[in-house]
Amino acid sequence: MKVIVLDSREEAAVTVSDEILVALRQKPDLVLGLATGSTPTGVYARLVQAHVNEGVDFSRVSTFNLDEYLGLPASHACSYRHFMKVHLFDHINVRPENIHFPPTEGEQLVARCAEYEQSIDRLGGIDIQLLGIGSNGHIGFNEPTSSLASRTRIKTLTEKTLKDNSRFYVSGDSPPRLASTMGIGTILGAKHILLQAFGERKANAVQAAIEGAVSALWPASALQLHANTSFYLDRESASGLTMLDYYQSTNENDRELRRRGLL
Ligand code: F6R
Repeated sequence: MKVIVLDSREEAAVTVSDEILVALRQKPDLVLGLATGSTPTGVYARLVQAHVNEGVDFSRVSTFNLDEYLGLPASHACSYRHFMKVHLFDHINVRPENIHFPPTEGEQLVARCAEYEQSIDRLGGIDIQLLGIGSNGHIGFNEPTSSLASRTRIKTLTEKTLKDNSRFYVSGDSPPRLASTMGIGTILGAKHILLQAFGERKANAVQAAIEGAVSALWPASALQLHANTSFYLDRESASGLTMLDYYQSTNENDRELRRRGLL
């Protein structure tokens, strides 16, 4: 795991979007796994800028979102389909048929969750998975005690997540209790995982994910089992880490090795 502590979320957005743009240059049919919430908005703004100002082409890109609430129509202001349109899809040239969300409506949801997995596999798997982290350590909507091998399925949200996410519901309504989400096993199948976390509110979850024991109680700790995961943190979210000096010296050494062409 790489742990990169930056001065601000803006700096993280630049670094993470650059990673995506470099990968896109190498593979125009990139398969992206995408997150919603307050964490990735800076990255999406930079991708939009790259398209508008530099003509970066997303026409061959495919996207798979991590999760979506059950019972909210796509037009609902709090649905994740609406969020993605507003922050990214309406402003780049991704093709509507290349955009995928886990199923939330209609019948046979279990079978359609399995199809979601198959659609990812058919495209050769997710190249880059963007993640945030819940203050309870969830990734996607894989709440504490989710199986570390889980695949796309319907999950019940915890009270903590409902409370955290009620900030997006202006009318005082609370979010739906059920959501469809990629599983932890699905996320671990991505080739490269980029997790961003910002603010003191995330410090415990970040510490447990990076330095704690691998445990279903802290779903993001499963990322310790993934060979290519990078955490992009601000100082506040990194404040609980005990080995910060080590992460910093590792990053400096990596930079030097890259400069010498050895990495
Ligand atoms: C959203 C998602 C969630 C969020 C997490 C953090 O698609 O997968 O796991 O990443 O709840 O949310 P924010 O970024 O709003 O703090």
